[in-house]
Amino acid sequence: MVDPKLRVLISSEKIQARIRELGEQISRDFPEGTLHLICILKGACFFLTDLARALQRDVYVDFMGISTYGKGKTSSGEVKVTKDLDASLEGADVLIVEDIVDSGVTLNYLMHLLEQRRPKSIRIAALLDKPERRLRPVHVNYVGFAIPDQFVVGYGLDYAEKYRNLDDICVLEGDSSGT
Ligand code: IMP
Ligand code: MG
Repeated sequence: MVDPKLRVLISSEKIQARIRELGEQISRDFPEGTLHLICILKGACFFLTDLARALQRDVYVDFMGISTYGKGKTSSGEVKVTKDLDASLEGADVLIVEDIVDSGVTLNYLMHLLEQRRPKSIRIAALLDKPERRLRPVHVNYVGFAIPDQFVVGYGLDYAEKYRNLDDICVLEGDSSGT
């Protein structure tokens, strides 16, 4: 896909190499038992499928839908669960798998929600982090790449549902202000 508005920020090769490293690190940190992966739809599903295959251990895969009421480049700050998990988290080692941490509103909300379900442990893996943008505190245990405050698409990340299927993570440039 050739699009003049797109500039590659992180190539597919770099993404895949970093995910292999994260997989090794997480496998070392959780040497026993099943790791309960929670994929935050929709953006994280590409990261989840590659990360799960980089883990040398048993995993259980579950999905959660979250809406932050935003179609453009910023979320409204209001979080709503659009699809809940299939399974209980009681006693489980949980790893939340997210595409990107921006304001932190989504993950801050989710951590409070899921901690109430009495997991044994709960950690967060995010492929991308924009630390400059944080409004709410979130401790991200595994970060793929910290990036500057730029709007990115590809490898699951969208702009108005477009560009998710790019192999690379790209900066979306131009005048699409996204409201
Ligand atoms: P937060 O609640 O502000 O941390 O936002 C997290 C969500 O906003 C992510 O899961 C993405 O869906 C979306 N988001 C934040 N930054 C970007 C970006 O640069 N590109 C695409 N989606 C983004
Ligand atoms: Mg998301």
